[in-house]
Amino acid sequence: MKVDVLLGLQWGDEGKGKIVDVITPGYDVVARFQGGPNAGHTIIFDNKKYVLHTIPSGIFNEKCINLIGNGVIIDPFILKKELQMLIDCGMDPGKNLYVSRKAHLILPTHRLLDAASEASKGDGKIGSTLKGIGPTYTDKVSRNGMRVGDLCMPDFRERYQRLRQRHLNQIEQLGFDFSNYKIDGLGFEAYEKVWFDAVSALVELQHIDSEYFINQMLSEGKKVLAEGAQGTLLDIDFGSYPFVTSSNTTIAGVCSGLGIPASAIGKVIGIFKAYCTRVGSGPFPTELHEQTGEEIRRAGNEFGSTTGRPRRCGWLDLPALHYAVMLNGVTELVMMKADVLDEFETVEVGEAYIYQGRQIDYIPFDACSVPIEPVYKKMKGWKESITNLKAGHKLPEALDAYVRMIENSVNVPVTTVSTGPDRSQIVYR
Ligand code: GDP
Ligand code: IMO
Ligand code: MG
Repeated sequence: MKVDVLLGLQWGDEGKGKIVDVITPGYDVVARFQGGPNAGHTIIFDNKKYVLHTIPSGIFNEKCINLIGNGVIIDPFILKKELQMLIDCGMDPGKNLYVSRKAHLILPTHRLLDAASEASKGDGKIGSTLKGIGPTYTDKVSRNGMRVGDLCMPDFRERYQRLRQRHLNQIEQLGFDFSNYKIDGLGFEAYEKVWFDAVSALVELQHIDSEYFINQMLSEGKKVLAEGAQGTLLDIDFGSYPFVTSSNTTIAGVCSGLGIPASAIGKVIGIFKAYCTRVGSGPFPTELHEQTGEEIRRAGNEFGSTTGRPRRCGWLDLPALHYAVMLNGVTELVMMKADVLDEFETVEVGEAYIYQGRQIDYIPFDACSVPIEPVYKKMKGWKESITNLKAGHKLPEALDAYVRMIENSVNVPVTTVSTGPDRSQIVYR
């Protein structure tokens, strides 16, 4: 059996959580392969909303094993809150949740370092979620990090103290005064205490050598779904560097983040919104700064699931979508949030860019520093509510024409269109 992959093709928040939840019944294992609690994956059913940050979005199906892979970074405090949220809903998440021993830990001082790094950048700040992502991956790559398996080693406390001191020295060098800085509402020392309390919840989970586990599952013919976090345009290598996250959000991250060979990859399901959003800094060629952007934000309730920040909104960007399809070898597409555009008379799509006076159809290297203007194509809006459309229903003709235009442009079929946030609001084409 192969590993199917579901990942975001834009700047994150495409609706990955919803679709993973919808397709989970077809899988034995759902595995997160990168990112950390910078992610916020929303799932809505039975009039209840759940936001997951670290736990895979297959957790609501008790028959499915959910794995936090080695490529993920874990904050015990945030994970404990997520576990508690599920327990409060009557679930027993510890039963079908496995954690890789090789997943790295986000320490309280990683959170401080993230804040110190952002403060030191001034206007050039990334707009990080301040969850400690950059510093934790930095420690992983510089071979200073601590992993889930280390929690059960006799020298854990000693190593923790050494790394903590190293971080405090770095923070001092950056000139960051954290005496009044709050991490999730708490001062540093108070937060460190609750962090240590939360470590015990992580220790109690089932720790595994997940690369052996997942390859064993595949050899037994079990079906595995890899769930991406963030989106392709935030990839550390291919996103708008430096305004990116610190992991490979693209297909390559699946192999390194789960320990599977490239030959094990099956379907690659790429998710995109019918328009674009971005949280944080960095280039966004089709961003709408006026009324229309505001209308999309309102209709789409575009406020971050992790930080609550308003998301920047704009029209769909076809060259960027094409780039994402190319990088990931996407085999099928899922279009999300089409309903958000229900009331628009016309819907626009960026189909090329004007860059240094020329028309181009690729993302130039210096997109972060040189302005690029989109060239728009106008499409007729469908002007009807699609939120009641479910499996078995047909899309309005103008919406189907919009979808066909995208398919023709990127040469990959759009198999599914999401018509609202609930699990049931989905049309298969
Ligand atoms: P993720 O990070 O990719 O899982 O996406 P988020 O959960 O951060 O953001 C997606 C938001 O859109 C959430 O609030 C979802 O409930 C919502 N959503 C998902 N699909 C749809 C849809 O088809 N229509 C609308 N209106 N909202 C949707
Ligand atoms: P999901 O999985 C949207 C953005 C941040 C910032 C940049 C770097 O919910 O789609 P970081 O905290 O990673 O150092 O921030 O990346 N970002 C996201 N934007 N959705 C996400 O995750 C994101 N995770 C990080 O806003 O611009
Ligand atoms: Mg999100």
